[in-house]
Amino acid sequence: MISLTLPAPAKINLTLDILGARPDGYHEMEMVMQSVSLCDTIRLDLGFAGGVRASSGLQFLPNDKDNLAVAAALAFRKATGQTWRDLLITIEKRIPVCAGTAGGSSDAAAVLRGLNELTDAGLSPQALAKIGEEVGSDVPYCVLGTTALAGGRGEALTPLSPLPPCWIVLCKPRFSISTPALFRAWDRGKRRLRPDTKGILLALEAGDLVEVTRRMFNVFEGVLLPTQQREIESIKTALLTAGALGAAMSGSGPTVFGVFREKALAESAVALLREDYEEVFLTEPLSGPLPALRET
Ligand code: C5P
Repeated sequence: MISLTLPAPAKINLTLDILGARPDGYHEMEMVMQSVSLCDTIRLDLGFAGGVRASSGLQFLPNDKDNLAVAAALAFRKATGQTWRDLLITIEKRIPVCAGTAGGSSDAAAVLRGLNELTDAGLSPQALAKIGEEVGSDVPYCVLGTTALAGGRGEALTPLSPLPPCWIVLCKPRFSISTPALFRAWDRGKRRLRPDTKGILLALEAGDLVEVTRRMFNVFEGVLLPTQQREIESIKTALLTAGALGAAMSGSGPTVFGVFREKALAESAVALLREDYEEVFLTEPLSGPLPALRET
């Protein structure tokens, strides 16, 4: 048996825009994505008897191919033509589940990167991202990280200048949102506000944190149910009152994030939000290549 442990970082959407519905049932996206330091930990034990399966100790996470991490392992084996039978994927979960922060997609991406290493397959990150496409729309981004513009279904990636150093507070409200239902609500809804994607790309290039945070926006916020919208707004207001430069919902929600220049302000926002919410995290943006793999 050979083993490897590696981190699977969460992501936030600095912007999320939808350009239109596509004939294949997906939507054409334009998103500025950012990896953050909040990570799940993935351990791969290749050759551990019992077939390909996941273990997380969490009842609500599937252990079979319905878990994106297992789906990624099966997709990797098929794409490489490898013949191994047994793989145990142990997931230590920290990223909130079904929360718009790509927890499942990042676990899947870590499995692809890890298996590439463990089996000496020698695939490029781009080839791994391509395998990830069939697992989920956010998986290719999670393979490559760290600051990127995502187009197409989410798989057309352009690396961007890093987000300037800052502190990012994540807060997950108690409700969950179904991603397909949110896309259907967007299909039915009126097109109102849109993010200034060009402007945020220029602000990133200039390394101007204030201009970046002014342009953070997610079109899904406009199609939430009124009760959900009220809760998102109240978390954003709490973050801004605590000194955030900007705040927005991430992905298909419901996680809300605020960007702070000062660590002390971010810490006080965390303390305040923890009075009302269980899942509140202080994170930093990741830059450069995704964290190195750790041999065990
Ligand atoms: O690709 P993934 O499995 O993450 O997508 C989940 C669902 O989200 C899809 O079945 C589709 O309904 C919706 N989706 C979409 N357009 C995208 C990505 C996802 O409509 N670009």
